[in-house]
Amino acid sequence: MTTPSSSPFIALDSLHHRSQQVILDNQQPGGGYLACPVMPDYQYSWFRDGAFISYALTLDGRDFPIQHRVGFAAQWDSAGNFHEWCTRMVNQRAEALERTIRRAQNGEPLVLEDTLNARYQVQGMEGPNDWPEFQLDGPGLWLWSLAKYVEVCRISPLPTSWEAAITLTARYLSAVWRTPCYDAWEERGDAVHVSTLTAIYAGLNAAERLMPQLDFAQTRQTIKEYILTQGLTPTGELAKSIGVDMVDANLLMAALPEGGMLAPDDPLMVRTVARIERDLLAEQHGVHRHVEDTYYGGGAWVLLGLWLAWYKTQVGDPERARELLTWAEAHADAEGNLPEQCNHAMFAPSFYEGWVKLRGEIANPLLWTHAKYLLVLNALRK
Ligand code: BGC
Repeated sequence: MTTPSSSPFIALDSLHHRSQQVILDNQQPGGGYLACPVMPDYQYSWFRDGAFISYALTLDGRDFPIQHRVGFAAQWDSAGNFHEWCTRMVNQRAEALERTIRRAQNGEPLVLEDTLNARYQVQGMEGPNDWPEFQLDGPGLWLWSLAKYVEVCRISPLPTSWEAAITLTARYLSAVWRTPCYDAWEERGDAVHVSTLTAIYAGLNAAERLMPQLDFAQTRQTIKEYILTQGLTPTGELAKSIGVDMVDANLLMAALPEGGMLAPDDPLMVRTVARIERDLLAEQHGVHRHVEDTYYGGGAWVLLGLWLAWYKTQVGDPERARELLTWAEAHADAEGNLPEQCNHAMFAPSFYEGWVKLRGEIANPLLWTHAKYLLVLNALRK
């Protein structure tokens, strides 16, 4: 069992520093971030995890710049290197992605080898093919994160290679968004997931902000209408996937700051979060992903407790955000590592051991959790 610390050992300002350090130490020379340095299956770089990590570093670097030999802050250099990495991953696959765009436009079935992968090895090779690779939220989130980086670091003009990658990623997403794919939890590849659609929406929005000559307004409008007509539960919340009467904590994606599909206080978002809190909140331990979760016993995710805290800061409830932050802090280990999830409040405890045998202990540290921690700190300071 991972033991929640009642933390005699780590001062909270050092949890801030530890979060910076865990992230910066686990960036590969090529710019990708290892999702988790100690779990073999997570020793890869994902667009999704990296998007949130680079977004967090962009803000943290502005407020607490770590001195660096070159540049303004180590955090900004790191985020910039990640964006370079994404750019290369996309541009190197330009021909394949163009084939996918053509197939989608002609209504032909897609070919998996010609789509973007979910996770990549250090040098940019795709990870082993035994993974649910076809996921569309990650590239959308990358564009969303890049737009923030460009705005905060005032990058102008954009490098040509970035413009090429932005345009291609946005055209790719705009062509394939209706295709069923694995969701942000890498599950259920035969469904269309509302959170994924909202990430694509935010990505297209970001592409337009990055390059005003791009126009995806029509696609965004169609995505939104599709969600509002097909993507709601019978009780009127955003649904986990089209046709499913369930919520998923990843629906917090719908209210991403800057360019998310819904304002955080939009009544639809508020209803959705209320149901997430009703169905998925684990008292004292964070937030479950969804009610059918069995991964590591379907424990409560520290990452998601922090994500909910981030949302609470957006709707003007810093007190609740602080409570959730405190929960998360209590799950730091003696070195200040924050895990993906904890195993104190499992939905399906009989599955826990099987996952430990297969993959080892719960991912800890998870860079994405540390990024969420930095984001909540940043939002609470405002
Ligand atoms: C999560 C993904 C994440 C990956 C690496 C998976 O278990 O479901 O969302 O990208 O781990 O952190």
